[in-house]
Amino acid sequence: MYLQNQNNANLIFDNCDTVKLAKNFGTPLYVVSEDRIKNKCKDIRENFLMEYPNTKAAYASKAFLTMAMCKIIEQEGLGLDVVSGGELYTAIKADFPMEKVMFHGNNKSYEELTLALDNNVGRIIVDNIYELDMLEDIAKKKSKKVKILFRITPEVGGKTHEYITTGQKDSKFGIPLEKGIIESVVKASMDSNNIDLKGFHFHVGSQLFEIDSHVAAIKVAVKLIKDLKDELGFATEELNTGGGFGISHTEEDEETKPASFFINPIMKTIEQEFTKADLDIPTVIIEPGRWIVGEAGITLYTLGSIKEISNVRKYISVDGGLPDNPRPALYKAKYDAAVANKANQKLEEVVTIAGKCCESGDILIWDLKTPKVESGDILAVFNTGAYNYSMASNYNRLPRPGVVLISKGQPELIVEREKYEDLLNKERIPEHLDNIQSKKLTFGA
Ligand SMILES: Cc1ncc(COP(=O)(O)O)c(C=O)c1O
Repeated sequence: MYLQNQNNANLIFDNCDTVKLAKNFGTPLYVVSEDRIKNKCKDIRENFLMEYPNTKAAYASKAFLTMAMCKIIEQEGLGLDVVSGGELYTAIKADFPMEKVMFHGNNKSYEELTLALDNNVGRIIVDNIYELDMLEDIAKKKSKKVKILFRITPEVGGKTHEYITTGQKDSKFGIPLEKGIIESVVKASMDSNNIDLKGFHFHVGSQLFEIDSHVAAIKVAVKLIKDLKDELGFATEELNTGGGFGISHTEEDEETKPASFFINPIMKTIEQEFTKADLDIPTVIIEPGRWIVGEAGITLYTLGSIKEISNVRKYISVDGGLPDNPRPALYKAKYDAAVANKANQKLEEVVTIAGKCCESGDILIWDLKTPKVESGDILAVFNTGAYNYSMASNYNRLPRPGVVLISKGQPELIVEREKYEDLLNKERIPEHLDNIQSKKLTFGA
């Protein structure tokens, strides 16, 4: 793969020897390249923000969020899309400019909305009527006027795994476009002293390699915007078209597209449709997550047990798996990988990379071509920057790996590896269980 260095037996990632990284920081280890993230942000700046007037871009932080990531995104001039109190809290603690934060989520709590208002978050993307009522109540109590967008369900699904398509009619996200519903919430917002409705948002799905669903959803949004203008006199100032730009994971996938592949058709459709409808073109916002950070990350593992089942397959187990990367089990996501300490050796085996969890479904990669592998080899799984660290769990009580950021060729720890003590941090043993006289009991019958 493109990360290999022909003159060195070890795999080089962003000018760092991955085998040394594994040795110095231990495995499993998430490794993230600052330069790669910045290159993606630059592409968005040059081909969206600078190319088109009245545009904004927010990074969807659910893909990967740490305080250091907030700093990178702030430096790059992008906004931040958060989806929970925890993501918002991370941005607050990183001193991220709050006016550039957009707060999403289909079930925000009263406390989360209060936190958002107390910190003057830039936009609340309101998903439902229940949330609108809560927001109105909080804003009134605090004598604030809160800027919002309504998330609509455009009834357009993205062509992707069913668990990451979101814009279809049968979706838990967004306000349905049924006659009467959207008009009533827009009217309520226009009548409110505490709500400042700026426009609408949709997100059709994730890991998309086509742009048809964005185009179709824009057409739906423009029709709605036109109807609301004609019926209620409501002028839409902002349209947020969500994220979803896909990245390549294996040779079977299409190559990752540049930002312009997605942006130009989005902007062309917006220009055409708004002009056709005799409407002013609103500020356009995009919020990619995976596309910005996915290819900026790899995960390093140490290979452990090797089990060959004659005429069936050879299982190689790594020292992590489902808890640090649940995507293969969740979405049948596919990844590519290389044996990092044998990067220039001939590929002569086909093996299956298994995780160490008590789940048969904990398989990271089926049928990976490798050199002759041995226990103790280092495996680098590619393009794990998005939805790996952020989705990690402690299943089977595995401590979560650390995260190393490479900046100008220098690795630095930005998240420490969890220790066993961390697993017990929040636990209490009730007093009545703390004095069990078990010595007399035998283990068994
Ligand atoms: C509202 C919203 N915006 C943006 C994103 C980011 O998606 P992606 O990482 O595919 O770009 C998501 C993903 O679920 C989302 O729900």
